[in-house]
Amino acid sequence: MEKFVIEGPAKLEGTVEISGAKNAALPIICASILGEGKTVLYNIPEVKDIHTISRILTYMGAKVKIEKNTMEIDPSGIFKYTAPYEFVSTMRGSICLLGPLLAKYGQARFSMPGGCVIGPRPIDLHIKGLKKLGVEIINEEGYIVGKTKRLKGNRIFLGGNFGSSVLATANVLTAATLAKGETIIEFAACEPEIVDLARFLKKMGAKIYGEGSHLIRIEGVKKLKSVEYTIIPDRIEAGTYILCGYITKSKIKVKNIIPFHLLSLIDKLEEAGLNVEVGEDYIETKPKSKWNAVDIVTLPYPGFPTDLQAQMMAFLTLADGISVITEKVFPERFIHVGELNRLGANITLDGSKAIVKGVRKLYGAKVMASDLRASAALVLGGLAAEGITEVSRIYHLDRGYERFEEKLQKLGGKIKREKEEKK
Ligand code: UD1
Repeated sequence: MEKFVIEGPAKLEGTVEISGAKNAALPIICASILGEGKTVLYNIPEVKDIHTISRILTYMGAKVKIEKNTMEIDPSGIFKYTAPYEFVSTMRGSICLLGPLLAKYGQARFSMPGGCVIGPRPIDLHIKGLKKLGVEIINEEGYIVGKTKRLKGNRIFLGGNFGSSVLATANVLTAATLAKGETIIEFAACEPEIVDLARFLKKMGAKIYGEGSHLIRIEGVKKLKSVEYTIIPDRIEAGTYILCGYITKSKIKVKNIIPFHLLSLIDKLEEAGLNVEVGEDYIETKPKSKWNAVDIVTLPYPGFPTDLQAQMMAFLTLADGISVITEKVFPERFIHVGELNRLGANITLDGSKAIVKGVRKLYGAKVMASDLRASAALVLGGLAAEGITEVSRIYHLDRGYERFEEKLQKLGGKIKREKEEKK
């Protein structure tokens, strides 16, 4: 295993280029199997999750090539419709293959994803939506087995106890493109990654209306063609670097982004008393030596993203005053709290709320990464802390951040990747 060794406090400067969005790329890669020929995708982030989905597709018989952020997928050889436990257990996102497999081949066998460190992650909405489209689904030895002769359009309410679901919307939307007749998804997720998926499917010939709103209408078509497509920039990676800039009191330019996707973050930074320079495709941090505490509630888009909650918490550990962070998407997603406290933060938990009392300084310490975004929060803490911070188990970070330490080094951050000594 590997770790990051970070020497803080860091002073950053320069420009960082943001990669393509992992969470847009995953459902788009899965949907590409609906095409008749070879799909070419540009701006693919070279991160572990993308390699995992590519391994699953290869296992199923597809031909996949990834080179310099371009991915080619030829699904013509697919002859297996199973996603085994070894793959699904490392990446829940692989669930977004379920809809495409059922739409194209009428069958799919998927290992049940189970829980993860950010709390229980049910898939009832995926199953409900696909059943409404005419899929028979049974649970067999830890696998969900789905079968259908031909999908049939329907009216589907996809809201759950925590609001809309991103990947359930992706699954049902993708499957409905090849269903007979019209499908209406109510309480659809509005995330930019869903809009990107819809734009990709439309380029393939799908008839989709209303993406980006809670009501999406799909008129099923018989066939989809393979296309070339460029993935949108990663708003979560962008938000992480913007917070790296502010927490280190540094002026940096975060480039190749769609600032419009980050309005909830910009709003909270301004509420904290900071200035944010917003350009057409960049955000420049305008640092200050002090910032105010702010309350955060995570919500589905356009609310504050749960995927930036941990990084925002790291930033608020150094604010003036007390911030309350309420997690409404994954109420148990607080595993980073104990680790941030090891760096000298003062955070207490009360159910799905974290109370962050601002401290004057953070101090370097040994901490352990637990999930993708929590790990990024620890890097933020380490950059701001005085002394050496070691973040172990960074394989979590490699799932979703492309060349994280290289990009930080280019900004002047003192961060190294080292082998972890065996205990
Ligand atoms: C996606 C993102 C993840 C992000 C999350 C929320 C990908 C690959 N992952 O995950 O990074 O944190 O959106 O923005 O895009 N739920 C149910 N039943 C279901 C499905 C979900 O109750 O069938 C609940 C979840 O437990 C959670 C909430 O709905 O409380 C939102 O989850 P969801 O939007 O589905 O997350 P993912 O799509 O898995």
